[in-house]
Formats: sequence, C-alpha cells, structure tokens
Amino acid sequence: MRTISDLGPIEGKKVIVRSDFNVPLDENGAITDDGRIRAALPTLEKLISANAKIIILAHLGRPKGERKSEFSLEIVSKKLAQLLPNTSVSFSPETIGEQAIENINKLNNGEIILMENVRFDKRETSKDDIQRNELAKEYARLGDLFVSDGFGVVHRKQASVYDIAKLLPSAAGELIFKEVSALEKATKNPERPFAVILGGSKVSDKLGVISALLEKADKLLICGGMSYTFTLAMGGEVGKSLQEPDQIETVKKYIETAKKNGVELVLPSDTVAAFDFSPDSESKIVPSSEIPNDMEGLDIGPATAQSFAEALKDAKTIVWNGPAGVFEFDKFSTGTKAIAKALILAKKNGAFTVIGGGDSASAVRKFGYGENDFSHISTGGGASLEFLEGKTLPGLEVLN
Ligand code: 3PG
Repeated sequence: MRTISDLGPIEGKKVIVRSDFNVPLDENGAITDDGRIRAALPTLEKLISANAKIIILAHLGRPKGERKSEFSLEIVSKKLAQLLPNTSVSFSPETIGEQAIENINKLNNGEIILMENVRFDKRETSKDDIQRNELAKEYARLGDLFVSDGFGVVHRKQASVYDIAKLLPSAAGELIFKEVSALEKATKNPERPFAVILGGSKVSDKLGVISALLEKADKLLICGGMSYTFTLAMGGEVGKSLQEPDQIETVKKYIETAKKNGVELVLPSDTVAAFDFSPDSESKIVPSSEIPNDMEGLDIGPATAQSFAEALKDAKTIVWNGPAGVFEFDKFSTGTKAIAKALILAKKNGAFTVIGGGDSASAVRKFGYGENDFSHISTGGGASLEFLEGKTLPGLEVLN
C-alpha cells in the first residue's frame, strides 16, 4: 500500500482525507464514544506538521441521500477542534460545489476543514459506477491528493472511499496501516493457541466470519444474542431471548465442523435472564439451556465468564468481536466486563489481543479501559469482520 510519504512534498497542498467519523450518538445527539475521532488524529497530526491544507470527507449514519440535521457532522467538527486545540478546525455545510471550494480556499497551511456528511448525496453509496464516479469527480475538485484513513468504511465501494482514490494520487493513512498490520498479525499467521470470542446480537450477521474462523481458530467462544440460537440448535430452551430459528440448521453444521476441525467451541453454560429488556429488570441466573418462557437472556452468567477466562488463559492470540450482553445497561454489563478483563490479563501474559471494533470497542471504553490495555482496538465493525472473513475490501484494494 502507498503511504503518505509516497505522495511527495505536501507542504501547501490540499490533501483530502477520508475518515470514519461514524460515531455513536445518544438521544440528545451527543457523542457517546469518540474513539473513531481520536483514532483519526495520527494522520491529521502528520499532515498538520507537514503544513498541508486538510480537507476531511466523512459520513455519519445512513441518511440515504437526504440532508437530515440529525446526521450532520458539525458536532464532530466541534469534537475534533477540542482534540486538536492548537489547530484551526472549521466546518463546511456544503460537501461539494462552488461554495465548498470557496470554504476550502480560506484554509491556511496546517488547518483543517471538515465537509458535511458525504452520504447526504445519494450518489455516494450508489451501486451504479457511473453515478459514483460523477460524485468522485466533484470530490477530486476539492484537493490535490487523497489519503484514505477511514478503516471502518473500507469494506464499502463508495465514492469517497473507492472511486476518488482512482482519480487523485492516493495513499493509505496511519490508521489504515495500523489496522491492517494488527489484523494481519492476528489472522494471517497467528501465534497459537488462537482464540476468537464472538458475540453481538445475530448469528446471521456473522455467518461468513464463523465459517472462516472454524478453519483457522483453535478456540471459538460464543456469547451475546447469537449464543441463544446455538442453544436452540443443541435442543435447549431460550424463552423470549433473541433467536434466529432459521439459522438453526446452519448452526448445527458449525457445531459439527468445529468437532471435525478440532476447534474447541465454548458456549455459555449459564445466563443472566431478565423479565424484560430494561436497565433495572428483575433478573436471575439460570442454566443457559433452561431460560424460562417469560424471561430473556441479557448477559452471560458467572460460570460462563469463568469458563471463558479459563479458555483464554493459554491463548497467544485473541480476537474479540461483539459484546456478551446488553453492556449499555450496567446491570447486564458484567459478562462483557469479565471478557475485557480476561483480555487485559492475557495481554499482560504476553498474548496479542485485538478488539474487533463496533460495540465491543465502545464497551471497553465505556468501562474506562484504554488503548494500552489491549494490543489493538479496531475502529472497524463490519470492516474488521470482513477482514477476518478474508474478503477483499475495495477501499484497501484500490490503494495497492
Ligand atoms: C461502521 O459504522 O461500521 C462504518 O462507519 C460503516 O458504516 P455503514 O455500515 O453505515 O456503511
């Protein structure tokens, strides 16, 4: 992959950076996890020190081609300004066109302008190559060079990720490098035992990654909402828990493949079951295969947390994607916290530990753990899953 240094001298050049600022917001529109914005800083700092004029393209949410205020990136520009107190950070309500260019022309060297959400234009995410290319040409008018740094979005063939890279001299930013090196280290030739923890709500979101990991991992630990479909497949009762009956047959095959390939499959043995999906719901610990009809699983139980910690003890490489329970509710965050602690301990004992983005990354930051507690916290949710699956990611391929 080409690096920023391959772009030649950049002092005074207008450098377009694609970042992933798709951050979670609360019901009042406040940012609840600024991890992705912080992760963009090394590239921005590098360009600031090199005296470039920095134009950021990014998305927030899925506004589906419409200008919607709740998806405006203005709030991100304010956060970015706080994180870079010595740099001028402005915001352009226009993403492309004459007004956007006028706003960019006001930049001095070493200054940043964040353009409004690229997804307010439906051509950004269009499946039609011609439409995307048309928009990418508009982006290319904004600057001289392109640095791709939104790792979380490299699995998308979109105008500001893929098509623009073909129109301008382009390179990968610091974040993309860091992500690719860490994920390659964890998956290409992992130091063994290689353990993977998969959680999150749906099995159907992780079919590809489970199949791929059953060929690579030594241990596969399943938790979170997706584990209830595994319990069903093994003949257990899961009450009102999240479940995907149409995936039972697939899950049965996974269980067989795990046996055949000698992959140790670790499933929950106990569950924290609640009467309803609410932060203070009455709850009790029950065997995972005997969740009462009027209850739903919202977290793994203490015996499962213990067996996970045991299984991770000797692992030399650990990848974790997806929480063990509803960590957003304190009462049901214990299992997810226990997994985080097991990874922290494993790293202290020399293991290479990777948190594969999305909710698990938000969870560890919510618990107050930092970058140094893990070998790598990915900023990619879908992107890191597709990487783990071994898929070709268009936003990376185009940089080669
Ligand atoms: C993410 O949040 O995983 C990335 O920003 C990509 O967002 P998308 O799934 O809406 O394309």
